[in-house]
Order: sequence, then structure tokens, then C-alpha cells
Amino acid sequence: MVEPGGRIVCWRGHAPAKLNLTLRVFGKRPDGYHELETVMAAIDWVDDIELELTPGGRGEIRMELLGDVPEGLVSGPENLAWMAAQRFLEGTGWSGAIGIRLTKRIPAGAGLGGGSSDAGAVLRGLSAATGLELDRSVLLEMAQAIGSDVPFFITDNSAAVCRGRGELIDECANGLEGMPIVVVYPGFGSSTRAAYAGFKKPLSPPAWNPTIFLDFLKKGSLRQVADCLTNDLAGPVTAKFPFLELVRKALIEGGALGASMTGSGSAFFGLFADELVAEGVSRDLRGRLGPAARVHCGRFLDSGVWRGSCDGDHRCGGA
Ligand code: C5P
Repeated sequence: MVEPGGRIVCWRGHAPAKLNLTLRVFGKRPDGYHELETVMAAIDWVDDIELELTPGGRGEIRMELLGDVPEGLVSGPENLAWMAAQRFLEGTGWSGAIGIRLTKRIPAGAGLGGGSSDAGAVLRGLSAATGLELDRSVLLEMAQAIGSDVPFFITDNSAAVCRGRGELIDECANGLEGMPIVVVYPGFGSSTRAAYAGFKKPLSPPAWNPTIFLDFLKKGSLRQVADCLTNDLAGPVTAKFPFLELVRKALIEGGALGASMTGSGSAFFGLFADELVAEGVSRDLRGRLGPAARVHCGRFLDSGVWRGSCDGDHRCGGA
């Protein structure tokens, strides 16, 4: 909380990556976006966010980037975390200085939603740390204005069905929380715009329907969920980067029950029943891929674990 007397207040939270377990694209809309339906789930590959708030200023934003900073990512107004702080200031009229210290781990251009998650965490953090505790509908509106994936990261749940251009959220149960995953970033990014531009309607619809899929997910039926993994953008992206199909095959040959691309790529992920098998394939892929690649061996997140905490007595410093 921002405390009387102008004390500096600090908020800390995690910004998790997401995986698209299913992603179906239904065609282009008059506004240029594509209508889609996707089931997203949060994972334990996280960026860290620290916010330092000094009441009484004129809405200055400062930002510091640390960690595994993706090439081209700037600590300025083009950064989605900065945009989120800007939206918050404009939307609430809160006057004070905001310091953002962002420790990056999630690669950019990977389809993992790292930038969107940073923005979501900043919005949630500012809402809590200023004491304004904005309604979820207000936060969602700010999130939608920043990007299609940002609303998912406003929710407390670890999984959701996202429709529209991705911004209409229905939280859903994820019975796979805690289950092992391996995520492979191949060392290069994929353009979201290009992936959608290359989309062609699949010849046949998937053999499952969304209600059945959500039931499998709720029950944590790993085998069935793995069989349903779908991504309508994988065709155009693997046509451009055939190497990614080898990554998918390597995950399956290494013991994944299913493997698919997340979002518009370039990252692929595999679902595993056994942690040791997941660790084995991760070691193998780290040895085979170049130094720019990243292989994350982790888990689906439990709901709510990325809620941040506010500590009025602690000075973050730095940012
Ligand atoms: O919303 P976001 O800025 O992340 O989207 C980046 C680009 O991806 C858009 O400008 C658009 O070309 C494409 N896109 C789309 N349909 C969506 C989401 C994104 O065509 N549902």
C-alpha cells in the first residue's frame, strides 16, 4: 500500500509464461484480427516484477531490465510493462512515480506471452500497491487495450478459455496443475502477424469438441489432453521454419505424450507423465540445440501462485 507521508512502497510478483493447449482460428474479422478459441494454461517459467511507488510525483515511469534480456527489448514506452503502467496512470489519475524492475527469463517472440504477462503483473501490482484495488472489469479493459493475450494474465486462475481475438476470458479448471512439461525455445522468434497472415483454414475440424476437451483438462486426463493438443498456426509457422517439426518429433521420441506449438511460436512444448523422463529429454535437447536455445523443464502452475505481495517496509532500490 502507498502509505501516508510519502513512503516508498514495494510490490513483488511473478509474471508466468502460458502455453496454448489448443488454438483454433476461425477466420479474419473486419477489424483485421482473427477470431479464435484457445485454452491457455500458466507454467512455472516466470519473469519477476518489482514495483516501487513514490506517491506525490507527476506520474513518472522508470524501468530497469535485468536477467536474460531478449535482444531488442527496451526499458521504455514500447515495453508492454511500461505501457501497462502508462495505462494505469491515465485510467486512474493516480499521481506518483512508478519504478519497474523487470527480471526477464521468458524469451520474446516465442508464443509464451512473456511481454503480455509482464503487463498483466504490472496492472495487478499497481492496483494492489496503490490501494485502489480496481475492479476486475476495469483491469480487464486496460489489459485488452494493451494486447490480445494480456487479459489472461489478469485472472487468478491457472487456465482459461480465451475467445474473440483472445481477450474474452472464461476461467476453467486445470487438473494438470503440477504436471511436468518441457518447453523448447529454438533460439529464434516467430512473428505473430506473419503466423496469422499465413493461416489457412484446416481441411478437417479436430476430432474433439471444446466441451470434451475442458472435461479432460478438469479431470487431469493427461493422455486425452495430449491427444487433443492443436494449434492452427503451427502449419504456417513450421512451413517457414521446418526445423521446428524436428523439435516436436524430438519431444515425442523423448517420451512426451503429446507435443505442440504455443501461440504463434516459435516455442514448442511437450506434456509428460514422468518428471525423470522430462528431465532426460531436456538434457538431451540442451546438448543438441545451439547456445541461443532455451529448454525449460518445469510444471503447470497452481492457480493463484503468481499473485504478488506488497511490502510497505521494504525498499526495492534500483528501479
Ligand atoms: O494483439 P497483438 O498485438 O498481440 O497481435 C499482434 C498481431 O497478430 C496483430 O496485429 C494481428 O496481425 C495478429 N493477430 C490476429 N488475430 C488475433 C491476434 C493477433 O490476426 N486474434
